[in-house]
Amino acid sequence: MGYMDLDSINKIKLTIENQISNISSIKDLEELRISSFGKKGSFTSLMKGLKEVREDKRKEFGALLNKTKKELEYFLNEKREKLKKEKILKELKKEWIDVTLPIYEETKTNSVGSLHPESLVREELEKIFLRLGFSVVDGPEVESEYYNFEALNVPSSHPARDMQDTFFTNLGSVLRTHTSSIQVRALEKLDPPLRIVAPGRCYRCERLDASHEHTFYQMEGMMVDKVVSVSHLVYFLKTLLREIFGYEVKIRLRPGYFPFVEPGFEIDTWFNGKWLEMLGCGLVHPKVLEYGGIDSGKWQGFAFGIGLSRLTMLRYQIDDIRHLQGGNLKFLKQFS
Ligand code: FA5
Repeated sequence: MGYMDLDSINKIKLTIENQISNISSIKDLEELRISSFGKKGSFTSLMKGLKEVREDKRKEFGALLNKTKKELEYFLNEKREKLKKEKILKELKKEWIDVTLPIYEETKTNSVGSLHPESLVREELEKIFLRLGFSVVDGPEVESEYYNFEALNVPSSHPARDMQDTFFTNLGSVLRTHTSSIQVRALEKLDPPLRIVAPGRCYRCERLDASHEHTFYQMEGMMVDKVVSVSHLVYFLKTLLREIFGYEVKIRLRPGYFPFVEPGFEIDTWFNGKWLEMLGCGLVHPKVLEYGGIDSGKWQGFAFGIGLSRLTMLRYQIDDIRHLQGGNLKFLKQFS
């Protein structure tokens, strides 16, 4: 370009600005950059024409051309960033996957939730036991082998471990198989005489059926005092069942083996035309008291472990334990 004046510089600036504004792809923008600022670009040739400008004007034009070039390049870069962002957003929109499940129709309504039937029964039991002078305590679900087995007189070689097959973490902890793991924890912390109940979730590697779940609830109970006998145990359990059902429930007491009690029993309740095992119990084994730091020569105790999930089945006439963890709102709504 041989001839140069302010007007021609402004014109080419406006043209390039317009072109940048109208471009909608990074590829087109790159082409424009080359055709304007490349070796043979329109703006480059304008700059080349500078040497033909009158000497007294050359400085002024030179400064203006540099300033204009910088402005245009800034504008171009800005546009490139904008296009890049748009491209990413477009791709994100295209690749977006909806990982949520459709909401149950019932959930959409403004219904207030309700407590799970197992929570209702747990609360009822806690109230009964609080009235009988027991305190409610808690313990971890991921438990050490020590509290779940050893301290309950079940050493690692003991065949009774097979009765409660469970899940182990690779750090050697177990998902507790029963709430009995709380027994020695409580004995270590509390001084006798003591009365505690401990409700909680338990886990077992089970063959599942209508009365066996891999995840279920139990409630442990323990009383330690100077003189504690089987008749105390039976009294508390009968009171509990009468209170919760409001009538005398048909039960069967039979000998049962648990390494942490002596003697040991199991109590079954009559449900749906057959006996359903409801709880294990007995007098606390002296070794367990000793593990808890309690002198078994001075103190005695009873302990029981109720199947809270089973009790819930009985309480609400639920024919299959798997409904409890099924998460079906139609089932759960019946308890609101
Ligand atoms: C125990 O777990 C003993 N810890 C109970 C105990 C405590 C005995 C204190 C003596 C002294 P057992 O494995 O029988 O025992 O389980 C106790 C109750 O938990 C059973 O009677 C049953 O009601 C419930 N239960 C056991 N396994 C399951 C399961 N897979 N699903 C649902 N409920 C279960």
